Amino acid sequence: MTQDELKQAVAREAIRYVVDGEIIGVGTGSTANFFIDELAKIKDRIQGAVASSEATAARLASHGIRVFDLNAVDSLAVYIDGADEIDASGAMIKGGGAALTREKIVASVARQFVCIADGSKLVEVLGSFALPVEVIPMARASVMRALSALGGQPRLRLQKGSDQPLITDNGGEILDVAGLRISDPVGLETQIDHIVGVVASGLFARRGANVCLLGTPEGVKTLRFA
Ligand code: 5RP
Repeated sequence: MTQDELKQAVAREAIRYVVDGEIIGVGTGSTANFFIDELAKIKDRIQGAVASSEATAARLASHGIRVFDLNAVDSLAVYIDGADEIDASGAMIKGGGAALTREKIVASVARQFVCIADGSKLVEVLGSFALPVEVIPMARASVMRALSALGGQPRLRLQKGSDQPLITDNGGEILDVAGLRISDPVGLETQIDHIVGVVASGLFARRGANVCLLGTPEGVKTLRFA
């Protein structure tokens, strides 16, 4: 099976976690896009969705799924999104698609986080994938120094084919921090959150996944976390 077929398989399986009559939180990225396409098939069963990025909002709307502003919603039954890495405790690295801050915000309002990922995303220790951190642009250099002091090698993410910084939906910039072997995801998330100028990190540990649907050649495996 190709990686896209594995992503499609978990996207299909995730429909089982959609609660009828509710508003669904929807993530960003290629796996989330497959999920949105599946959600479109049952769109009459839900009120609509809250999007974690402008790209996701546009894709939801293109399918005729109503997009709600998060401020108009008290709680979400479920948030469904991909990940760049996930460990055996349900802690994740996210933000490969630069949407980590809104993903974290929408996930924080959801009662359940369902991670959908192909099997390559399951790791023993987080950190081989450079950790994305969103920063306020004027704090870029000072945050880079602080992240280096934590043992990482931060690099400013650029727009594809350009020497200009990539700008997020929130007007922030992304630092991708290589060289971290994250043995204490909760502790590191808290340390990075305390750096002045950081908007959010792509470490989702304090609020990790409740369930991970993992696509493997043998079928979709369901991992549940405490
Ligand atoms: C976007 C994300 C994505 O969930 C993550 O990058 C995984 O993407 P994909 O499903 O394309 O592998 O965090 O900010």
